[in-house]
Amino acid sequence: MTGSCVVTGAARGLGRATAELLVDRGWSVVGVDIDEAALAEAAEAIGFAAVAGSIADWSTHERAADAAEAIAPLAGWVNNAAIDLQGAAHQVDERHLEDGLAVLLRGPMAGIAVATRRMAAGGGGSIVTVSSIQAVATFPGYYVYGAAKAALLQATRSVAVDYGPHGIRCNAVLPGTIDTPMLDAVLPAGLTRAEAVAREGEISPMGRVAEAGEVAAVIAFLLSAEASYVSGAAIAVDGATTARCYPYGEIDL
Ligand SMILES: NC(=O)c1ccc[n+]([C@@H]2O[C@H](COP(=O)([O-])OP(=O)(O)OC[C@H]3O[C@@H](n4cnc5c(N)ncnc54)[C@H](O)[C@@H]3O)[C@@H](O)[C@H]2O)c1
Repeated sequence: MTGSCVVTGAARGLGRATAELLVDRGWSVVGVDIDEAALAEAAEAIGFAAVAGSIADWSTHERAADAAEAIAPLAGWVNNAAIDLQGAAHQVDERHLEDGLAVLLRGPMAGIAVATRRMAAGGGGSIVTVSSIQAVATFPGYYVYGAAKAALLQATRSVAVDYGPHGIRCNAVLPGTIDTPMLDAVLPAGLTRAEAVAREGEISPMGRVAEAGEVAAVIAFLLSAEASYVSGAAIAVDGATTARCYPYGEIDL
């Protein structure tokens, strides 16, 4: 199944890699991003339609859906855009909470709502929301981010149940650490970028972080007809990070 697909956060990182893979696979992609200049550059380089705006605004999702339906039937929607938002509970104030949830939770939930409405009227489709392993395990100092990512899993299940009879599948991916611009905000100081990324890779038993394309491939699969009986799922793409609870020791081969 291809048609048109909205990808939020398409200017860089995982969203850009996803948009590029979907265009390669024949989708007509509408990329959304708050960074208008970077989005225009990516749209030109990859060949997708651009809708600039914040996912915190409901109207951005409506404009993206309109742009997609103007090209081809809306068959895919990827809720990818997010911000890295750090702060433990005692450090959070009202602004942090409200602005954080506006992007991390309300934004994707608005995208899902617009997508389901359009897809239900148009014969179905597939929605993929990018959550995080922080939905099921905790990084220190991510009180709002982790809670929002967890809530998106329940939103995913809700939509999968409600719209299964109407041809809409809804799934979530839970990436571990990915080498994107978002990672730069958390890299340890005093190292070259390559050294710092290698250090971050110790989070996974595979000893490295993910390339954006490795997560994009799973998103593309979930959008495709090959995933026709996959719905309501939360799929970790984390190199076994969440499978491990004790980091020391390796088996001898
Ligand atoms: N990078 C990681 O290690 C990692 C790990 C787990 C999950 N994730 C998730 O993967 C997804 C993609 O992250 P990434 O690493 O590519 O991030 P990134 O920061 O590299 O790119 C995010 C993109 O989203 C855009 N964006 C931010 N706020 C927006 C808004 N309000 N409206 C529209 N666009 C907005 C940014 O301009 C940017 O282009 C996010 O949902 C993130 O939470 C990332």
